[in-house]
Amino acid sequence: MKGVLLAGGTGSRLHPLTRITNKHLLPIFDRPMISYAVEALVGAGITEIMVVTGGTHAGEFLRYLSNGHEHGVERLAYSYQERPGGIAEALGLAEIFVGDDAVLVMLADNVFGRSIRPTVEAFGEQKHGARVVLTEVAEEEHLRHLGVPELGPDGTVVRIVEKPHDPPSRYCVTGVYCYDPSVFSVIANLVPSGRNELEITDVNNYYVAEGEMSYDLYEGFWGDAGESIEAYYAVNDHVRRNGANRRD
Ligand code: G1P
Repeated sequence: MKGVLLAGGTGSRLHPLTRITNKHLLPIFDRPMISYAVEALVGAGITEIMVVTGGTHAGEFLRYLSNGHEHGVERLAYSYQERPGGIAEALGLAEIFVGDDAVLVMLADNVFGRSIRPTVEAFGEQKHGARVVLTEVAEEEHLRHLGVPELGPDGTVVRIVEKPHDPPSRYCVTGVYCYDPSVFSVIANLVPSGRNELEITDVNNYYVAEGEMSYDLYEGFWGDAGESIEAYYAVNDHVRRNGANRRD
């Protein structure tokens, strides 16, 4: 299974910090943010990784991650998104790198307290379709800023609503997605959303409609450090006290 880390975007929700650097290079406790996502993948056994970035400061990823070996990455590739065209468009840039393999995509501003290895192992068994990681979010206001699944009586995902006014459940879709290689033809057929981006939620809803969407319910700390300055500091505080990507 290949890994793709998405580390582009303008980071507008963290302005003015992100006027001077890429969001994913900002510190989380004692390391640049991107390193926690690399650690999440390597800790889950994924050692062939492509980092997709964009905007300014792209060269700093190379300076920090180098060839990846020091971080446990066996093969590290880079791509560059020329305009902020959405998460799904960024993933599309990894098509040749992923080839006929399965892929785990992670938004590099997502930080998990516990290892995502169980999801990688479950998708290794599943092989086809897609798999996402859901986690419970206590505050309804928070859910309004995320992708939220509607679950049927049997617990299957009925649809995913992006940034819902009325969240259809108490769970959010975190920024970890597993796909079989058919994802690249799904992306090729996407229609840009109202904000002129290719949305990852549209990709996921394709697999929901096909009946090929599974999920894991993750329990433990999860944060999207790019969501707001408050979220950024909540992630910092947690990681400083407890670390991240723990296997225990
Ligand atoms: C993205 C996804 C959203 C998901 C979130 C997790 O939102 O679109 O579905 O819940 O990441 O971090 P964004 O952070 O780009 O607003």
